[in-house]
Amino acid sequence: MIKSIDTSRGSFSSKFGIIAAAAGSAIGLGNIWRFPYVLGESGGGAFLIVYLLFVLSIGIPVMLSEFIIGRSTQMNPFGAFKKLAPRQPWFIVGIMGIIAAFMILSFYGTVGGWTLEYLYKSVLNRFSGKSADEVSHIFEGFRNNSYRPLLWQVVFMGLTFLIVVAGIEKGIEKYSKILMPVLFFLLIVIAVRSVTLPAVSEKLNPAEGLRFLFKPDFSKLNAKVIFDALGQSFFSLSIGMGALITYGSYIRKNDNLGSSALIISLSDTFIAVLAGIAIFPAVFALGFNPQSGEGLVFKILPVIFQNMPGGYFVSILFFVCLSVAALTSSISLLEVVVTTFVEELKISRRKASIIAAILITIMGAICALSWYTFRNFGVSTFDESTGQMVHFNFFMILDYIALKFLLPIGGLFIVVYLGWFHGKKDVLKELSNEGVSKVIYYKLFMFLVRFVAPVAITIVFLNETGLLKFN
Ligand code: TRP
Repeated sequence: MIKSIDTSRGSFSSKFGIIAAAAGSAIGLGNIWRFPYVLGESGGGAFLIVYLLFVLSIGIPVMLSEFIIGRSTQMNPFGAFKKLAPRQPWFIVGIMGIIAAFMILSFYGTVGGWTLEYLYKSVLNRFSGKSADEVSHIFEGFRNNSYRPLLWQVVFMGLTFLIVVAGIEKGIEKYSKILMPVLFFLLIVIAVRSVTLPAVSEKLNPAEGLRFLFKPDFSKLNAKVIFDALGQSFFSLSIGMGALITYGSYIRKNDNLGSSALIISLSDTFIAVLAGIAIFPAVFALGFNPQSGEGLVFKILPVIFQNMPGGYFVSILFFVCLSVAALTSSISLLEVVVTTFVEELKISRRKASIIAAILITIMGAICALSWYTFRNFGVSTFDESTGQMVHFNFFMILDYIALKFLLPIGGLFIVVYLGWFHGKKDVLKELSNEGVSKVIYYKLFMFLVRFVAPVAITIVFLNETGLLKFN
């Protein structure tokens, strides 16, 4: 595993290797668990439009910027900025990134654990013959259990840890290459079943779900929805905390960064939309409330599997794929922390992995039990739009801080640095692989990175804080 010239890092073995690995990082619970539930809470189609706009105008430029910074410096996010701009505060991106990785992985491990529990329940055929209501109760019962969510969170973190200590190539490439296409195929199968599901009463219709997803109701747009869409786009694309700076540092010098970023972003987005098509028709056919929160897909999917020939096997295979998709994402989160610890604190990879995994698992334990043991641990605020008190538990607080603040602000720093401080020649050199390939999109990219992305992120923030009101 250890190479003679370079002891700490390898590189991906093929162009497909980097696309598979970065897509593996991007495609995960963010697409299949978080995207549908946030879209459901935000009122559907209008959220989708804003989300897509953010992916195109901000997400892809940030992703490509991270690749450029990573490959040109061959370092972790913190070290990369220290190297590029010594004695300037850009390395803050690296610090925020570490904090974000800790927070995200803490709650990600919880949902990864839910996925494992569902795999386990599928194998034991626990959903067999259960009504939609009963399936919902199974989820609530599990989440309100005093130890099971914790048990599975620890297992999930253990797996993440093992893959990361095993090293980059073996760990990442092998799994994502086989199982991502399977996941994609299964989502299509589930979507078809969801759309054709018989409605439970005459007033209900699965087609409503497609309308909900694709027919924007712009009256639903408000500052919160826009803010949610921004956070979700960063989270889903794995951008804003330097995870892709780290992955970029493993990309070979002759791979094309631009086309890679495009392929990865578009497939990530495609999978999220596909997950929406798989979930919402069933939500409407079953008379469910799309605003069901974090449990949405865990309450809906088993019902769809129940109504499918061979549902038992589809269900198992699906949760296997989803677990692996979650793992290829969680390892990219842990990888950022580990690479930074190894390079900056000069400790071994093993030691760095152990320290990071233990700390995150402890923080994650509070998340896993956020609906039971630690349910009162959090903040309650008054929600003006509904006139009710809402409680944010620890899980929700971490999600909120990381996705709404750390990632977008990190992304803002990254594009501002790349657009205004990195030096145009160096950008072009990296994009063209030292002049080997043509970069027809160069002007567009620079325009997005220098103006569109920074201005858009800033406006969304001002809008949300009420300093500037567009609606
Ligand atoms: N994008 C992943 C998902 O959708 C989560 C993730 C992995 C992530 N690495 C990241 C999010 C880095 C932000 C930054 O499930």
